[in-house]
Amino acid sequence: MKVIIGSDHGGFNLKNKIIEYLKLNEIETEDMGTYNTDSCDYPEIAKKVCYEVLKEPELKGILVCGSGVGMSITANKVRGIRAALCTNEYLAKMSRKHNNTNVLCLGERVTGAGVAMDIVKAWLTTDFDGGRHEKRVSMIEG
Ligand code: RB5
Repeated sequence: MKVIIGSDHGGFNLKNKIIEYLKLNEIETEDMGTYNTDSCDYPEIAKKVCYEVLKEPELKGILVCGSGVGMSITANKVRGIRAALCTNEYLAKMSRKHNNTNVLCLGERVTGAGVAMDIVKAWLTTDFDGGRHEKRVSMIEG
């Protein structure tokens, strides 16, 4: 498994904590920026991460901004990306089981680091259920 990760300035600190967590768990990670807390534009980072995720089916993306909203709106505009803004483990699990999400979005100003790490773990370790959900997921992009 490899995780492509990115944030704007509003998600920079949480992104670094997630990278630390992923490395500790020996999960290959690629950081697409931003690399400091200078103000920057979240759509740019979201698109970079999403285009990278689309290169291989087994790649997953994590995007962090202040609220998680801007990242999730942008990511879901990229064809082939199914992004979920998650604030708890239930959402993270269901977004994998039923929606086969390939991008997880988080808000640093909304979700504390401890909960965020539980969300990341749940999201990365939950498989798509397939079955009746295959058809529904394929209907998204029609
Ligand atoms: C940056 O201030 C903030 O707007 C951004 O991180 C994000 O929350 C946008 O949705």
